[in-house]
Amino acid sequence: MTAQTLSPVAISQIEKELEKYPADRRQSAVMAALRIVQEEFRWISNDVMQEVADLLGIPAIHVYEVATFYSMYEHKDVGLYKICVCTNISCQLRGAKEILDYLRKKTGIGPGETTADGRISIKEVECLGACGGAPMMQVNKEYHENLTPDSIDNILDGLDRHD
Ligand code: FES
Repeated sequence: MTAQTLSPVAISQIEKELEKYPADRRQSAVMAALRIVQEEFRWISNDVMQEVADLLGIPAIHVYEVATFYSMYEHKDVGLYKICVCTNISCQLRGAKEILDYLRKKTGIGPGETTADGRISIKEVECLGACGGAPMMQVNKEYHENLTPDSIDNILDGLDRHD
C-alpha cells in the first residue's frame, strides 16, 4: 500500500475551500477537504488525515472524527468503480436484496468486497435520498434508479466502455 501525500492540485483545492470560511473557522472545511482527498486516492489514510489537519491548522483527531463518522469516506482502498447499493426501507421493499444478489451473480462479489482486478467494489449503504426511484444504487458520483437486471447489465457494460 503506497503512502498518500496530497498533490499540489489537491492542496490548492483545499486552500480554495478554506477561503470560504473565517480564519477562526478553518475546521469547517474538513468535509470538503476529505472529499478532495477521496477523489484523489479513492480512500483516506491516517497519514493523509494528518496532512489535512496540518493544512487546516486543527488537531488530527477532529479530521479523524469526521472521516470515521460518515460512511461515504473509505478507510481502505476500493475499486475504480464504487457501487453503493441502498438497502434502506424504500429500496428494501422494492427489491434491494435482489439487486445485491444480481450484482453478486454478475461480479462475483458482495458488499464490502472488491473484484480481484480492482475494478469494482460493492457497498451496502443507507438511504441516499432517492427513495422515489427505489431500488437504486450510486456508481461513483452517478445515481441509477428504478433498477432491474437489464438496467444493471447496461450500467455494468457502460463501465467497461469507460476503460
Ligand atoms: S431508501 Fe433507498 S434511496 Fe431512500
